[in-house]
Amino acid sequence: MPKQMLTRRLFLTGTLAALCTPSFVMPSHASSRNNYKLAAQKGKASLLEEGNLLTDVWAYNGATPGPVIRVKKGEEINIEVVNQLDQPTSVHWHGIRIDNTMDGVSNLTQEPIPPGGSFIYRFTPPDAGTYWYHPHNRTWEQLARGLYGALVVEGDAATGEFDRDYSIAADDWQLAESGAIREETLGSLRDWAHAGRLGNILTLNGKPYETLEGASGDRVRLRFINTANARIMRFGIKGHEPWLVALDGQPIPPTKLSETGITIAPAQRADLVFDVQGTSGDNVPIVETSGAETLVAGYLNIVEGSNRKIRTATPALKANKLPQPDLANATRLDLLMSGGAMRFLTQATYKGEEVDGRKLARTHRQLWAFNLQAGMADAPLFSAKSGETIVLKLVNETAWPHAIHLHGHHFRVLTKGPRSNGQLNPVLGEEEHAYRDTVLVERDEIIEIAFVADNPGKWMLHCHMLEHQASGMATWFEIV
Ligand code: C2O
Ligand code: CU
Repeated sequence: MPKQMLTRRLFLTGTLAALCTPSFVMPSHASSRNNYKLAAQKGKASLLEEGNLLTDVWAYNGATPGPVIRVKKGEEINIEVVNQLDQPTSVHWHGIRIDNTMDGVSNLTQEPIPPGGSFIYRFTPPDAGTYWYHPHNRTWEQLARGLYGALVVEGDAATGEFDRDYSIAADDWQLAESGAIREETLGSLRDWAHAGRLGNILTLNGKPYETLEGASGDRVRLRFINTANARIMRFGIKGHEPWLVALDGQPIPPTKLSETGITIAPAQRADLVFDVQGTSGDNVPIVETSGAETLVAGYLNIVEGSNRKIRTATPALKANKLPQPDLANATRLDLLMSGGAMRFLTQATYKGEEVDGRKLARTHRQLWAFNLQAGMADAPLFSAKSGETIVLKLVNETAWPHAIHLHGHHFRVLTKGPRSNGQLNPVLGEEEHAYRDTVLVERDEIIEIAFVADNPGKWMLHCHMLEHQASGMATWFEIV
């Protein structure tokens, strides 16, 4: 099976698009600083280089991505979500250690918002960093159609530390020549059984060639967010060696990257910092380097400016206060991931019944399982006491990578190793000091994560390859 390729045009053909001026997305209905209104509605987007070919999308306030929501750490925010779609929805604030009732998970933490209905989300983000928001009902469809946006929580850097601060929501779309979403690929069971639904068109911030601005010597912060349903992407800055300063919103000690950058699995974020080098008028390509061919995903257009000298270091971002796992007294649990193409389930529990693999797929569209349970069960995977440290051993017995996301908490990645010999080694490099909310578990890999279950409520744990989530890789736990 050939991997779905990103077929977008390369650098040399992109010069026209590169001349477009960058647009800043502002809250379109903000009545005061921390009050937002998000209408989930139908809209049109210009995703292709041929700017006249518009795509029918679902979008927050008519735009994909939706408005960049910026809030200060520790400040309350109110967001009224109005559902103008024909199907129920809800909004999840991915990565925010939030009050459980505001987590936005349809049928777990709230009733979905019916068409015509609305819901007010009110929360105070405890951590600064890069987060995002997206629907949590039929996410595989609603996200793919364009419902997502960046959520930036300020407070991890000194004022003026960055001359430019951009969020970049990276997405792949499955589009026909006409620009229309290829509807027949939504819900394709074949995609669900494989890597998930991969697109053929890459956009940054909903544009075929997003163009940011910076002057030579400017210190730039780029907040990459992988908003794709299933594609693992890798981003870098041509001719630059940025520092990686945060993963999934949480700071790490600045780590130098090469120009091929950093791998970002679905739902993950990576914050990059660098000083712009070049002469005004230049377009520095932002590159996607996961495939055999490097793709130009957008540009940083060098404008007239300070021409400050390039600096050789960057300070670490200010850390958030996160609870430290107590490994000596941890509760240890396994999460066995199974199913999918090449290693189909022979049997699993589904809604309280033992069902054979064939029937699971044909009748229930279930293809994957956690601990041989397909989909959400009535009972939680486990129940923890508030303050308890949980060590989860994620064992990927499938032939596919999975981006496992834990709601409401950030975790440490402790060890990794191949399933073949079971030898787990402490993680090194950028993940050593990271607190993540989503971790990529490769085929036949085992990863141990640890977190303090300190936030009471019902929390999901699922694969963020959204087709996998929809077809079985979803569970929940509770903290009492
Ligand atoms: Cu980003 Cu359960 O989701
Ligand atoms: Cu998965």
